[in-house]
Amino acid sequence: RPVRRCGASVASNYSQTTEIVDLDWENLGFGLVQTDYMYIAKCGQDGKFSEGELAPFGPIALNPSSGVLNYGQGLFEGLKAYRKPDGSILLFRPEENALRMQTGAERMCMPAPSVEQFVDAVKQTVLANKRWVPPTGKGSLYIRPLLMGSGAVLGLAPAPEYTFIIFASPVGNYFKEGLAPINLIVEDKFHRATPGGTGSVKTIGNYASVLMAQKIAKEKGYSDVLYLDVVHKKYLEEVSSCNIFVVKGNVISTPAVKGTILPGITRKSIIDVAVSKGFQVEERLVSVDELLDADEVFCTGTAVVVSPVGSITYQGKRVEYGHQGVGVVSQQLYTSLTSLQMGQTEDWMGWTMQ
Ligand code: COI
Repeated sequence: RPVRRCGASVASNYSQTTEIVDLDWENLGFGLVQTDYMYIAKCGQDGKFSEGELAPFGPIALNPSSGVLNYGQGLFEGLKAYRKPDGSILLFRPEENALRMQTGAERMCMPAPSVEQFVDAVKQTVLANKRWVPPTGKGSLYIRPLLMGSGAVLGLAPAPEYTFIIFASPVGNYFKEGLAPINLIVEDKFHRATPGGTGSVKTIGNYASVLMAQKIAKEKGYSDVLYLDVVHKKYLEEVSSCNIFVVKGNVISTPAVKGTILPGITRKSIIDVAVSKGFQVEERLVSVDELLDADEVFCTGTAVVVSPVGSITYQGKRVEYGHQGVGVVSQQLYTSLTSLQMGQTEDWMGWTMQ
């Protein structure tokens, strides 16, 4: 049930945001809070996406034989909108998500929306749900674009029809620890990705495949799992839902993006912020030994933002960083990035969009 179409005037309406829903903003976690509208566009055999429409948020009808349900032909993205102190709304680097969806779509044999359609669709979704964007400093509106093979297949093949959906939910901190450091366990039995696989794209299957290791880790009291490379089993890859950084003195190292690691947009942004602050940043193979010997460790991701790591457990040995407090480098980078995202400081990088 399409309810309205929005055009190019969307951006100019951002500053008219005043009304905010009555929610317990102090206790937002990372769970779905249903908002008012979602965006839907379809793409058929001609490879062209329809002009999208906003519809009330709710269930969608899918053919039981659809490509996404049977063969996992699906991708997702994640980005955030923040409310500035003056009440208006900022998006953080939406074109980067659009480009990453295009790269992922190519790998998954799917058509992808243009950068222009993607960004416009994000703006429409945010604008239609603007009363759900948390007050400044209380969280953000998490925006979840999905691209899926919605057409019917039976034999293994790309689907004949695709659906591009965007929905949104207000969110607070991703980990139950809040802003306190998280505790990770290094996984040496399960792996997240293999060379030549799909580890570097945001396909839905990458996330289903880590649920088991994550469940076991949580049952043992850890916040999440850090994966190792499948070949040597000694180089860091990423955490189930975020990238990893290791700090030693003035050097910040993170695993290079070479096919098995998601090229995180927060990862890339933090690298640029760190370089601008005078740190030496190295993208390369980072070993478990270096991790255990680090001064500080932190994770980055859209959902987790910058999450300090308080401890790492590897083969039964637990190493703690900074006596469970937030390390100075993690704190500095977190503050620099979030104040820019929330419009509290001037956007010296040119990353935000009204
Ligand atoms: C994000 O950070 O946006 C992600 O996609 C990770 C997801 C598991 C919440």
